[in-house]
Amino acid sequence: MSKRTIVLMPGDGIGKIVLPEAVRVLDAVGFEADYVNADIGWEFWCKEGNPLPQRTLDLLEKHHISLFGAITSKPKSDAAKELAPELQGKGYEYYSPIVGLRQHFDLDICIRPCKSFKGNPLNFIRKGPGNTVEEPIIDAVIFRQNTECLYVGVEWTNPPENVYQAFMTHPKMKNFAKTPKEELAISSRIFTKKYTTRILRAAFEYAKNYGYKSVTVCEKPNVIRETSGMMWSLAKEISKEYPGISVKDTNIDAQMMWLTKNPETYGVIVSSNMFGDIASDGFAGLVGGLGFACSANLGEKVCIFEPTHGSAPKYAEFSPSIVNPIAMILSACMMLEHIGENEKAQKIQAAIAKTVEEGKVKSYDMMKLSGSQDAINKGAASTTQMTDEIIKNLK
Ligand code: NAI
Ligand code: MG
Repeated sequence: MSKRTIVLMPGDGIGKIVLPEAVRVLDAVGFEADYVNADIGWEFWCKEGNPLPQRTLDLLEKHHISLFGAITSKPKSDAAKELAPELQGKGYEYYSPIVGLRQHFDLDICIRPCKSFKGNPLNFIRKGPGNTVEEPIIDAVIFRQNTECLYVGVEWTNPPENVYQAFMTHPKMKNFAKTPKEELAISSRIFTKKYTTRILRAAFEYAKNYGYKSVTVCEKPNVIRETSGMMWSLAKEISKEYPGISVKDTNIDAQMMWLTKNPETYGVIVSSNMFGDIASDGFAGLVGGLGFACSANLGEKVCIFEPTHGSAPKYAEFSPSIVNPIAMILSACMMLEHIGENEKAQKIQAAIAKTVEEGKVKSYDMMKLSGSQDAINKGAASTTQMTDEIIKNLK
């Protein structure tokens, strides 16, 4: 069988640091692949006026699977100033390449597992009966619809007349009839049956394949009747095809409260774009935060695996680097699972679990230090030392 080709998109800042660490672990576990590097991020915006060059899209189109580090985004006006002098004033406009990738390849399914590792000093704890302290083991996997909802960008301040008139045909708009049009800001929350079905089905399939007993739809159908309502009614329909798995619902506001009380009771959670964003950040905070939060963006053709964190520019120049490579390495495990290399994924996850539980080697975040170069003098492991320990524990 010919070797697989994986597209590596390190991007900016610490993306360039953590991605090679994940590849070291993949090599160590015996995963055989060819890797091609693809250009993405700030450097290419400044040099070429395009942070997501066509040659990168072509590589993804050809090879389908990619590991991505992180990119730096800046506000439009700052971006324009950093453009190479010969490109300035020529109409180039900055856009986020990760949002660009999601749109271009229709990466509509986002998976964010939030699982606690035993012994992680960053784990959520709570008071139990008497003076006891409890540390629940959390194993939640959030399925977030990645392309629709409030993030579609269909919005207006002072909407054009035809849009305004269309809105005014809705009876509920009578509450805004006295507001001058110029003082109205409107953002649309758009769901489609096709993509709502796809995210729900992905969640149920995952629950079935990985032995979860329930799928919880986290929305707000009692208030947002049309969009959240669509997701909830489709969920009930689809659940009939999955007899062993119960379908539950929570409202996003209540969910955020429950996750500080009984987060261990949740398994697979499925949400729209915005509520999924909120719920996954909430759960990630219970299991170690950005140093541990991994994700997958899955489309029908192209799939991209990346840590949830950004490029953390402040940390990019530290030598040695102090950032935690675990989020990136766990994202690489998600890639392995996706392509059917489950055994290798499990091996790496077990090595991470052992490293965290033994606690001999800890990155600055696990030591609860502030992120300065001095963390190393205070006993924090460097990024490379963390990876070395994980590789050692593979054996
Ligand atoms: P960030 O995630 O880059 O960093 C926030 C803080 O989290 C850091 O200062 C650090 O304390 C901590 N952190 C992040 N990664 C860590 C790791 N691996 N280990 C330990 N601690 C870690 O978010 P921020 O500072 O808001 O954004 C920086 C840049 O990244 C911006 O330009 C932003 O637009 C971009 N960004 C890119 C994303 C992506 O590529 N998907 C996602 C989020 C932000
Ligand atoms: Mg990322």
